[in-house]
Amino acid sequence: MALKITVIGTGYLGATHAAAMAEMGFEVLGLDVVPEKVELLSSGRVPMYEPGLEELLAKHVAGIEGSTGRLRFTTSWEEVGAFGDVHFVCVNTPQKHGEYGCDMSYVDAAFASLAPVVRAGSLVVGKSTVPVGSAERLAGVLPEGVDLAWNPEFLREGFAVQDTLHPDRIVVGVPGDDGGRTEKLLREVYAAPIGEGSPLVVTDYPTAELVKTAANSFLATKISFINAMAEVCEAAGGDVVRLAEAIGHDERIGNKFLRAGIGFGGGCLPKDIRAFMARAGELGADQALTFLREIDSINMRRRGQMVEMAREALGGNSFLGRRVAVLGATFKPDSDDVRDSPALNVAGQIHLQGGQVTVYDPKGMENARKVFPTLGYADTALEAVRGADVVLHLTEWREFRELDPAELAAAVSSPVVLDGRNALDGERWRAAGWTYRAMGRPRA
Ligand code: UGA
Repeated sequence: MALKITVIGTGYLGATHAAAMAEMGFEVLGLDVVPEKVELLSSGRVPMYEPGLEELLAKHVAGIEGSTGRLRFTTSWEEVGAFGDVHFVCVNTPQKHGEYGCDMSYVDAAFASLAPVVRAGSLVVGKSTVPVGSAERLAGVLPEGVDLAWNPEFLREGFAVQDTLHPDRIVVGVPGDDGGRTEKLLREVYAAPIGEGSPLVVTDYPTAELVKTAANSFLATKISFINAMAEVCEAAGGDVVRLAEAIGHDERIGNKFLRAGIGFGGGCLPKDIRAFMARAGELGADQALTFLREIDSINMRRRGQMVEMAREALGGNSFLGRRVAVLGATFKPDSDDVRDSPALNVAGQIHLQGGQVTVYDPKGMENARKVFPTLGYADTALEAVRGADVVLHLTEWREFRELDPAELAAAVSSPVVLDGRNALDGERWRAAGWTYRAMGRPRA
């Protein structure tokens, strides 16, 4: 009989994982503790913007015309316990308020609810990003006869569906004493991607947990490295974009994740490097990760640098009464996520210093309004820049690259654009009469 799978927590990770498991042919039951979410998902809709996810979900959610009917959602733990052979825990682990450590309360609550209802012989698989040592502890919460695996997730927002259906690797931390039972079951679950060639890396618990935080720390380091080079380029008159291109030709360095700008944000990289430092401290290995403090500082400094570039573009004095247009609010394009968004942070800083900020984002307006209701918002890029003294490009949506600089030039009060993502075609903007400046690049 085909395996029955449950997915606990239906955020970015869980909703995508549930839909992907249904796509791979399994019967799937998703659980969330928020009834409104369950209702929304049951109607084939998702509470966030993620390209392709709604289509994939609607293809499988029971009750939707033409669907396979393999995917359902519930709020009932009893139903989950009775249904599942394999339970994936996909709840989030945000940064603790006022501390670097990660908040394990959702993971702990999920295990506490699952433990009394889970069937003997079933497998629980943690996917949440957790401090190393958590899996060992959580294995002890589960009843006798229920195994635990740790299987970190590497999906990127904006590519969540593709990354889940065709992962570039599958990492599973398994107990050392189960005679290979857990690995065998997970090979069955991931038969499709493994068959396509996705490598399967089987490890112990701590290694699997560390792979995730190490990967995100490496990515954060790469971005802060190129942003540090941008700072030096600014001081020396170099061009960080050409520098990144040139070092990227070395295959050992690679050209990906070397885009200098206002830095990284989102619900993962910033909190993961902080939680990693906090955990290393608890383990007495804090020295090994002190460099991450510097990675974090470089990253946060870029936001301030963008604010200063805007101030300079306005004559170097106060923002009071000056009109600033901000293109982009989300932490990256193709997402509506504004968690720790560098774009919104810069917009907020300028607003708090008296600037009249108007923001436009293709998908992030609703979330941005919730986080920062006092900013001005416009319905289009053209509306946002109307009468602006300076335009800031802070999230690299395709829509912004496709804007007509000549049309925008006619609407602004002063045609000055600052590219916080090194993503616009500076020559095109200059040809349309703009002063174009970008981070880590010489003024033309
Ligand atoms: C990140 C990781 O890339 C995923 O592999 C991981 O699974 C995920 O976190 C997670 O832990 O769940 P994500 O948060 O979706 O994914 O975003 P990224 O694509 O990594 O981008 C993070 C930030 O870095 C964005 O603000 C982006 O604008 C910025 N960035 C990225 C740069 O500033 N420069 C670059 O060259 C690349």
